[in-house]
Amino acid sequence: MEEKKITVGDILAQKGKRKITMLTAYDYPLAGLVDRAGIDMILVGDSVANVALGLESTTQVGMAEMLHHAKAVTRAVKRSLVVGDMPYESYQVHPQESVKNARRFIEEARCDAVKLEWFDNCLDVTAKIIQAGIPVMGHIGLTPQTADKIGGFKVQGKDAQAAQRLITQALELEKLGCFALVLECVPDKIAGMITEKLKIPTIGIGAGLHCDGQVLVTYDMLGLFERFTPKFVKKYLNASELMLKAIEEYKGEVLREEFPGPQHSFSIKEEELKKIGGG
Ligand code: KIV
Repeated sequence: MEEKKITVGDILAQKGKRKITMLTAYDYPLAGLVDRAGIDMILVGDSVANVALGLESTTQVGMAEMLHHAKAVTRAVKRSLVVGDMPYESYQVHPQESVKNARRFIEEARCDAVKLEWFDNCLDVTAKIIQAGIPVMGHIGLTPQTADKIGGFKVQGKDAQAAQRLITQALELEKLGCFALVLECVPDKIAGMITEKLKIPTIGIGAGLHCDGQVLVTYDMLGLFERFTPKFVKKYLNASELMLKAIEEYKGEVLREEFPGPQHSFSIKEEELKKIGGG
């Protein structure tokens, strides 16, 4: 039986009923697993830059990389709602290109929605994309694409004035028509206040338990990315260790001539072999 695809309406309807689950994926096999596990939303995050491409900053990926990964993800997904993360250059450096770029995520990569981080010109760009009929997920708090402008990779909204700014941003994005909002690295009580004030769901990462849903970078929670682990990450697996063991085992078996065994090899009939002087 064909699984029913989750829609933006389904996500909105979950608010206040049960928590919403979201994880990142950048490729076909992992997206397939996340989908099969029944996660509600998959983010093709620009975190691909750090955790999969070995780059220092998310600003170092552009539309070409993001569409390439988004296409691999949507090929695998049957049920989860797929959100394409708009790269920095696609709407912050070139705001006049933002609607065209957002549309490429939907039409070329077959994503269901796009995500944009808060920045100076955020409201204008977000409004234009929503008016073009493209569902938008907002992202406030720690916005990695503009971390240099907000004091670095730090918890945001820690004093009353900064917290009030976050509340205002959240309400403005809701008013424009965003269908959900990522809250990254925000004190849990402020995330709780924003969650209570909004009709749209909040999806927290480092924002505590009171959000309507949670998102993590899958490479972090599986223990696949070793360079840095933020405080808010829980490692559900040490995949690096397991994978390293398997790779070392393979290396040993090749060196000891134990792999490939007969079950991994192909044979030819003796008479055929004799015809060319073999056997
Ligand atoms: O790119 C990403 O993975 C994200 C999440 C941290 C929300 O934006």
